[in-house]
Amino acid sequence: MLLKSKPNWELPESAATSESVFQDRRRLVKAMGLAPIVAAGAALPNTAAAATADPSAKFYPAARNLRYRLDRPLSAEKDATTYNNFYEFGSHKYISKDAQALKTRPWTVTFDGMVEKKITVDIDTLISKMQLEERLYRFRCVEAWSMALPWTGFPMADLVKFARPLKGAKFVMMETFHDAAMAKGQKQFWYPWPYREGLSLEEATNELTLIGTGAYGKPMVKQMGAPLRLVVPWKYGFKSIKSIVRFSFTDKRPVSFWEKVQGKEYGFWANVNPDVPHARWSQATERVLGGKGKRVKTLLYNGYGDQVAGLYKDINGENIFF
Ligand code: MTE
Repeated sequence: MLLKSKPNWELPESAATSESVFQDRRRLVKAMGLAPIVAAGAALPNTAAAATADPSAKFYPAARNLRYRLDRPLSAEKDATTYNNFYEFGSHKYISKDAQALKTRPWTVTFDGMVEKKITVDIDTLISKMQLEERLYRFRCVEAWSMALPWTGFPMADLVKFARPLKGAKFVMMETFHDAAMAKGQKQFWYPWPYREGLSLEEATNELTLIGTGAYGKPMVKQMGAPLRLVVPWKYGFKSIKSIVRFSFTDKRPVSFWEKVQGKEYGFWANVNPDVPHARWSQATERVLGGKGKRVKTLLYNGYGDQVAGLYKDINGENIFF
């Protein structure tokens, strides 16, 4: 008889702290002047053979940062790793097998543009310089489906410090690899490869912005954007660029991949807002992946308004919610 055992990272609804209770605790901790709570993460399953071959596997599982809690159960790892958007490997959701063609070592990351000095660094050297932690975040795709994920990574603020941008830099442009022999989707010449995304420097250094190196207590699987991806939980999922090879600092706002493809539907800011519909569908609710078609109400800034709403107070005359 086949018994389905529940992985220990999958929280029952009753065990997940409600966001308001959690925020109250945060305020209390802040008021008491205490340092952020970082507790040892639960022992996480480490089953993927690919993960054990990864030179960074020794850093997993990383300690969970308890400042970041969820109001809903985590998505099943199987859903997160078999329903993906990664157009480099095909313009549909079932690219997980094809994405195994992605070669993640050797892998270098370049920091250029408005920086004190251009740097190119090997991925394992970069990861070894950063303090990895686990955070539980909601994830909301512009296509109105959602997940809740246990990311591992480090604050992008630390990456920006490492890059040493010049004073005049205002934005950071991020770029995915470009190799059509490895990633067949890049043969679709009508897309503006390589995939690019951008953030303002205030967004990049916001406490929520994470550079993801792993998920589910293991190094990032290829289909989720190994070895390095962006995690910005208050924005629609297309901002979370995968498999990054370059961070370029600039004083001009970069044009993102989807903005180039269809700028009227996919903007630069792409902040989640249930009251601002996409050009072709409502954003009021979302389909929870693995939730048997269950829909829940979408939250303004995906529930992260306390941390990020202030970033946009001086932006006038522009729609920041698409
Ligand atoms: N990054 C690259 N390089 N290529 C992509 O096609 N798709 C984006 C984003 N990052 C994409 C990408 C979109 S549309 C979404 S919704 C998320 O990745 C999906 O992340 P997931 O597959 O881990 O759920």
